[in-house]
Amino acid sequence: MGVSGSIAAYKTPELARLLVRAGAEVRAVTTAAARQFVTPMTLQAVTGHEVREALFDRAHEAAMGHIELARWAERILIAPASAGFIERLAQGRADDLLSTLCLASDAPRLLAPAMNRRMWADEAVRDNVARLRARGVRILGPASGSLACGDEGPGRMLEPEELVEALAEDFAPPSWRGRRVLITAGPTHEAIDPVRYIANRSSGRMGFAIAEAVRQRGGEVTLVAGPVTLDTPVGVTRVDVESARQMYEAVMSRARQQDVFIATAAVADYRPLRVARQKIKKTEGDLSLELTANPDILRAVAGLPDGPFTLGFAAETTRLEAHAREKLRAKRLDAIAANQVGGERGGFACDENALTVIWPGGRCDLPMQSKQRLAYRLLDVLEPLLNEKDSTETA
Ligand SMILES: Cc1cc2nc3c(=O)[nH]c(=O)nc-3n(C[C@H](O)[C@H](O)[C@H](O)COP(=O)(O)O)c2cc1C
Repeated sequence: MGVSGSIAAYKTPELARLLVRAGAEVRAVTTAAARQFVTPMTLQAVTGHEVREALFDRAHEAAMGHIELARWAERILIAPASAGFIERLAQGRADDLLSTLCLASDAPRLLAPAMNRRMWADEAVRDNVARLRARGVRILGPASGSLACGDEGPGRMLEPEELVEALAEDFAPPSWRGRRVLITAGPTHEAIDPVRYIANRSSGRMGFAIAEAVRQRGGEVTLVAGPVTLDTPVGVTRVDVESARQMYEAVMSRARQQDVFIATAAVADYRPLRVARQKIKKTEGDLSLELTANPDILRAVAGLPDGPFTLGFAAETTRLEAHAREKLRAKRLDAIAANQVGGERGGFACDENALTVIWPGGRCDLPMQSKQRLAYRLLDVLEPLLNEKDSTETA
């Protein structure tokens, strides 16, 4: 466990305690800055091991202690990961014990960033995170919420319980290996003229989180993404589209080769009947747009003979469950995940969500939590349903 210099370091003794309780052997390494926020004495007491910080430590380096530690670790979890540490890791620097260990180890690395909202949004930080992600470093969170500096927004380190779960997931058997999974995510843009379009508030985060979770569990993932600004999870094949009709084409040309189809995208139901070739000029009066229905991707996939197991999403502002059940029945889906949108918390364009999953034989409520965590819980619900489908098909 690497601890760098963020105020969230005060949570790491609890994290270490939970990891030890879950059966892990934990050795903590801090940066110099981390010691301003959490004492080595506390970390030593909960891990039962000396806490290391110095690279030039004569006693340990007599036996090349940093290399020994790098080889010993099966996973390296940096929690919290400060902006400064993320920068050093992205640059491949080796100027303190923790950064050197990260370079010298074959162990998969997981990072739990924690910083002020503005820092997290900074372009340099975004670049560094994207580079690390592309190299296979798992980025856990951050969550949104009230930050130590008094701001509200993304930047909070995930809670220790969530980090323990994420780490356990990293060691879990690849229960989706051999499954081909097609996922749609994000909004669609429906052109009005060369500069304007109709869109919606979907951020794509739920679909991207599911794509990452399926990949993490060994599945082969194709992610058809509408216009979103999210990094592609490592190992996932991404197909970018803009409009509902492009998404329809991208999905239908692939759906027959899939085992599972998960439709999180908020596909526009309608598009302008005519797309103006030139920018529509402002005039004195009102303007009416005539809309025409888009193809229904979910219905089309669910209606394929021998098609994939199909999970739809229903984002509703009212009568959530009734609408979801109606959609499940009308489109003949295998399951539907319903989520309330338009409220204060959860749903579109935020980091958290709650889902009610409904299938012909049952239902399950997944409470409000980060979309990353929710994605794994959703896979837990789907696994027995998929196994059931497998066994009825082979019977
Ligand atoms: C009170 C206080 C809180 C801080 N909290 C954070 C933080 O949450 N995230 C962060 O990236 N940096 C934070 N910093 C700044 C880092 O501690 C600073 O950049 C330090 O050099 C990081 O060193 P390290 O990356 O080697 O651990 C904080 C600084 C202070 C004084």
